[in-house]
Amino acid sequence: MEEELQRLVATARQEAAGIDDAAQLEEFRVRYLGRKGILSGILRGLGNLPAADKPRMGALANEAKAAIEALHAEKNAGLGHDCGQIRRGPDLSLPGRCSAHGRPHPISRVMRETCEIFAAMGFDIAEGPNVELDYYNFEALNIPAHHPARDMHDTFYITDSLLLRTHTSPMQARIMEGQQPPLRVVAPGQVYRCDSDITHTPMFHQVEGFLVDEQVSFADLKGVLALFVNKMFGSGVGLRFRPSFFPFTEPSAEVDIACVICGGKGCRVCKKTGWLEILGSGMINPAVFEKVGYDPKRYSGFAFGLGIERIAMLSYGIDDIRQFYENDLRFLSQF
Ligand code: PHE
Repeated sequence: MEEELQRLVATARQEAAGIDDAAQLEEFRVRYLGRKGILSGILRGLGNLPAADKPRMGALANEAKAAIEALHAEKNAGLGHDCGQIRRGPDLSLPGRCSAHGRPHPISRVMRETCEIFAAMGFDIAEGPNVELDYYNFEALNIPAHHPARDMHDTFYITDSLLLRTHTSPMQARIMEGQQPPLRVVAPGQVYRCDSDITHTPMFHQVEGFLVDEQVSFADLKGVLALFVNKMFGSGVGLRFRPSFFPFTEPSAEVDIACVICGGKGCRVCKKTGWLEILGSGMINPAVFEKVGYDPKRYSGFAFGLGIERIAMLSYGIDDIRQFYENDLRFLSQF
């Protein structure tokens, strides 16, 4: 066996000398050193030798293996030179590698900017839970069980009384319940609806705003929203209020701005109408005040819910909402 090992190493040396490309070298490695290769076979065979011979033969076999490994390594280094991969140390003429810097997601930026505009008007900022009670999401907002308005919400239910909030309006009830007027609050956050296409994602963002005091009128709502639109999109952007319905506001209005992508001429994003809806709003329904224990004869207020993805799409001229959530750095690093 000793001779056999010597012969094996000699043959391997001869063969290695004849190798002149990487494929041959790999074939050599697999044949001699691979898991099913010659040396593995020999080492496995040691088990059948008489106990007295095992240590010496084991040592010889390992020596042969090390010798062949050395042949392989030597050849490997040599081939590197033949392929022209000369390692001369670092190439100092190459441009340096920049480290990638993170930055806020466009949605976070628009959300922050929105809150800052309202904070400058004296609004407080509050956040609430994404997993919400049916009570705050619907019941306290004048949407009792089986009310047809629940259909609009495509709700993800967790249990009968627990759900993923479908809008940020539950924050109206939560805050009013715990504080007395006057109140000026914006509540940013995630909301969820079972819906998905180029203008809908199952999770999206809203900023809720509401103001409660004595003698608050619809004119106050218009003034605050007009100021917001001027700050966000620049002065002179057209604004229109369209009558609408929400159980928790009366009267209610949806607010459109002149399409900032086509300037009101009509395009794919505004569906040729020249207008884009950015929020729902209205005067808080006295039924909501009753639920939270406010006197509806004394207090009035307005509320609105802004769609942040919509505003971000308009601010940045993006026509597919899903791009915000694909985590493509080429897209995200533009902002
Ligand atoms: N919560 C409503 C929605 O998500 C928007 C809204 C908020 C309407 C506040 C009126 C007042 O559609």
